[in-house]
Amino acid sequence: MHFPTAALALLAGLQQVAAHAGSPPAAPYVVPGPKTPHGFQLPQPGHRAKKICTVPANMKDAGPSILRAAHECNNGGTVYFPSGSSYTIASALDLTFLKNIDFAILGTIYFSDDIGIWPSQTFNYPYQTASLFWRFGGSNVRIYGLGKGVIDGLGQTYWTAMVTDSSVERPILFGTDGLHDSSISGINMRNPPGWFNFISNSTNVIITDMNLTNTDGWDTYRSSNIVIQNSVIVNTDDCVSFKPNSTSIVVQNLSCTGSHGISVGSLGQYEGEVDIVEDIYVYNNSMTSCSDGGRIKIWPGAAAGSGSSSGGGSGYVRNITYEKMTVHNNDQVVALTQCYGVSDQSVCNEYPDILFDDMSGVMSTKYDPVAGYLICSSPTSVLTLSQVCSNVVAKNIAVTEPSGKNATFTCTNMDDTLLELNCVS
Ligand SMILES: *[C@@H]1O[C@H](CO)[C@@H](O)[C@H](O)[C@H]1NC(C)=O
Ligand SMILES: *[C@@H]1O[C@H](CO)[C@@H](O)[C@H](O)[C@H]1NC(C)=O
Ligand SMILES: *[C@@H]1O[C@H](CO)[C@@H](O)[C@H](O)[C@H]1NC(C)=O
Ligand SMILES: *[C@@H]1O[C@H](CO)[C@@H](O)[C@H](O)[C@H]1NC(C)=O
Ligand SMILES: *[C@@H]1O[C@H](CO)[C@@H](O)[C@H](O)[C@H]1NC(C)=O
Ligand SMILES: *[C@@H]1O[C@H](CO)[C@@H](O)[C@H](O)[C@H]1NC(C)=O
Ligand SMILES: *[C@@H]1O[C@H](CO)[C@@H](O)[C@H](O)[C@H]1NC(C)=O
Repeated sequence: MHFPTAALALLAGLQQVAAHAGSPPAAPYVVPGPKTPHGFQLPQPGHRAKKICTVPANMKDAGPSILRAAHECNNGGTVYFPSGSSYTIASALDLTFLKNIDFAILGTIYFSDDIGIWPSQTFNYPYQTASLFWRFGGSNVRIYGLGKGVIDGLGQTYWTAMVTDSSVERPILFGTDGLHDSSISGINMRNPPGWFNFISNSTNVIITDMNLTNTDGWDTYRSSNIVIQNSVIVNTDDCVSFKPNSTSIVVQNLSCTGSHGISVGSLGQYEGEVDIVEDIYVYNNSMTSCSDGGRIKIWPGAAAGSGSSSGGGSGYVRNITYEKMTVHNNDQVVALTQCYGVSDQSVCNEYPDILFDDMSGVMSTKYDPVAGYLICSSPTSVLTLSQVCSNVVAKNIAVTEPSGKNATFTCTNMDDTLLELNCVS
């Protein structure tokens, strides 16, 4: 790296601060468990140098000093945000060059809520017009907060602005683009203007011990071998959502409150694109006051031909397991729609291979006694003349309705012999 003289002086300043602020606590040892995706690889330990780059507290724009610290401490150091220090980031940060580096976030990081400064700076993607304040990419990166660190998007200002202008750009609070063999742990996330976490183009990432308050949880996209576990998410849209090309993902021991549940889809939104969601294991999660528990929506957003981003894509969903889910006051425990009313879509002719197993708890009064639905487009595929939803299995679903009636399910075009459910239609 070549730095101008002023930057070098600042780097020296950073090191001086480091001497005063002391050393960050060590990164926690995080492992997936009890389930692990096949072939999952943890960040490699043992390569860490002692270099520490402490970022000085800065409520104007900490962006430039964070970027400098990341360059300075790349290849073996720790970028350190000490406990008690506060930061405001007002410039977008491209952190996709990382290698063997830790981020110890013990302080509080805000993103400026001066809404107008962001559209010209954020990293924007065509997929659902996602935009990022900062993006992390590279390998062997450990980002940790030990339950103390806070990242706050000050979303309220955006949500208020949205009431009068729905087009206001609402960046995602935390994003990865090409992050590999890495961990993200112990961070409190608050008030994202848009989604909370966009995990894209990433492999072998474990996310654990997080505490998220207000809006969406995690969205995975073009990623595989991801573990999301041991975290608390309150008042969210989707608690976890598997977007196109999410494969080999384990989600376990989450406590989700107030969301649409843990969802697959929608798929086939973009004409000409192939969307795959495969090998997903959703294990031992607790869902409270959610509209749905396990939700799968395998159908394009709209009919083909009505525009390049409103349907017409292809792809498939395969091998999705929801096991051990506890519900409290949920409207539905399972919700599956497979191309209902749009059976001409090629994405609709694949066979989902889906298991709902061991779900229990007490439902809300909203649809009592109906506890969910499984709706398939048609009994047979036009292409192969075999059962479209033949591999959808439900068993050990023991939920209680507040009225005391037996829970019922709406089952349409399903192979009922595989559903140990009280199907009423
Ligand atoms: C992922 O990688 C592709 C291919 O390199 C790139 O075009 C895209 O911008 C990356 N990020 C996302 C979110 O798709
Ligand atoms: C998560 O954060 C919220 C808001 O700060 C707090 O009330 C709650 O106790 C935290 N939950 C856990 C399990 O740490
Ligand atoms: C589940 O996650 C919580 C944090 O939400 C953690 O305290 C607990 O130890 C985890 N349980 C298991 C079995 O890992
Ligand atoms: C998903 O993966 C398939 C197969 O590798 C690829 O053809 C397709 O372009 C990918 N789709 C997206 C949205 O990345
Ligand atoms: C289904 O997905 C799970 C979770 O990723 C994986 O462990 C299992 O091997 C997959 N099954 C098949 C038949 O591929
Ligand atoms: C499931 O999660 C609960 C709540 O964190 C935990 O107490 C329990 O040990 C977990 N069970 C299994 C089998 O992982
Ligand atoms: C509820 O289900 C149980 C077991 O399947 C059955 O014995 C009972 O008659 C049902 N009760 C009502 C009210 O349908």
